[in-house]
Amino acid sequence: MTNKIKPLRGEITVPGDKSISHRAVMLGSLAEGTTEITHFLQGADCLSTINCFRQMGVTIENNPEQNKVTLRGKGLHGLKQPAKTLDVGNSGTTMRLMSGILSGQTFDTVITGDASIQKRPMGRIITPLSQMGAKVESIPGGGLAPLHITGRKDVHLHGIHYDSPVASAQVKSSVLLAGLYAEGSTSVTEPNVSRNHTELMLKMLGADLIISDTTATIQPNPKLTARKIEVPGDISSAAYFIAAGLIVPGSQLVIKNVGINPTRDGIIRVCKQMGADIAIENIRNTDTEAVGDIIVSYSQLKGTEIGGPIIPTLIDEIPIIAIMACFAKGQTVIKDAVELKVKESNRIDVMVNNLSLMGADIIATEDGMIINGGLPLHGAAIDSKADHRIAMSFTIAGLVTDSPVDVLGADCVNISYPAFYEDLNRLMR
Ligand code: S3P
Repeated sequence: MTNKIKPLRGEITVPGDKSISHRAVMLGSLAEGTTEITHFLQGADCLSTINCFRQMGVTIENNPEQNKVTLRGKGLHGLKQPAKTLDVGNSGTTMRLMSGILSGQTFDTVITGDASIQKRPMGRIITPLSQMGAKVESIPGGGLAPLHITGRKDVHLHGIHYDSPVASAQVKSSVLLAGLYAEGSTSVTEPNVSRNHTELMLKMLGADLIISDTTATIQPNPKLTARKIEVPGDISSAAYFIAAGLIVPGSQLVIKNVGINPTRDGIIRVCKQMGADIAIENIRNTDTEAVGDIIVSYSQLKGTEIGGPIIPTLIDEIPIIAIMACFAKGQTVIKDAVELKVKESNRIDVMVNNLSLMGADIIATEDGMIINGGLPLHGAAIDSKADHRIAMSFTIAGLVTDSPVDVLGADCVNISYPAFYEDLNRLMR
């Protein structure tokens, strides 16, 4: 069967940012007053966060038709012990950030998730939380979930300075959230700055938090006051349409209201490096985050090198960047991205194996991959490994292959973008 290539044209609004939607529920639950969250992401990961906080006594109304969530915060010390194990599903953000919050509670909890979560490294949060005096145990051992977190009834957590070996917003946020409950100040220094949504939202709600270069420092026990939270469109979801616009001949797209926080905008910078016709218009600020409309047109891309401090700002976009690199002239080198191995799947292996299957010239390296672009890609059956970003990346590749791409386990897009296929089909003319 041959594939008829159709250009993508028109305007699209992508769902709310996943990272910010999680944080809005978590911090709203710890604030005093009513939080109204608009453009909330109705993805399975964020629904897991809602469920966990409901189990800890927070009243949360979700209106999926309007993507609006309203919750009544309990204050820092108002959560109650859940009746059963907290289940984060596929969500690493829920697991790691909530562990920081749970470390500061007076009750015990057990927290687990799906098969993928149970293979992902939790030692990276157990280490700093333990240094703060928390008791977080890996039940199977080896730093794996399920985790048992013992409430601190008599002893308090104490603030630490943590030099994180990885640039990870989940690690940084976990420690800062535990810092809300510690004695003394808590700071985290990262090798490179990772997404700073936790810091920005905490500050907006009244926390005493200072960001200086690669270090964030928080003081304990603030009064967090509920505020309205407007979630920007997710740049990680927009990335699939940016790529489609660039690689499908004849395309021109406007992606409205996308979050362009500089700790997340690496994809835009890389597109420019690759010679893309891309612009941002209508830039404005919500209370915490910058947003803009992204305008993108089909472009002949060229290869590039990606490594160093830009990596945390585009870590979730590397699968789709690898697809773009296959359509670029020349070589693309992606390095310093060893973190890809511990995402929802091993994204180095999965990208390299599947793109090789489709005829790409790609090799895996220790910390990334090297792609020589320009070879035509052929259709194939692609196992998504239940990783939403892999499923969406190969769906986009399939728009320009000579025969169809069959994505196995395609419904995992539910994690971050339930209407992905509908939105994509609507843009195809
Ligand atoms: C996230 C941080 C990143 C990212 C993940 C979401 C967050 O993970 O890959 O999809 O919301 O804090 P790391 O902190 O492990 O880099």
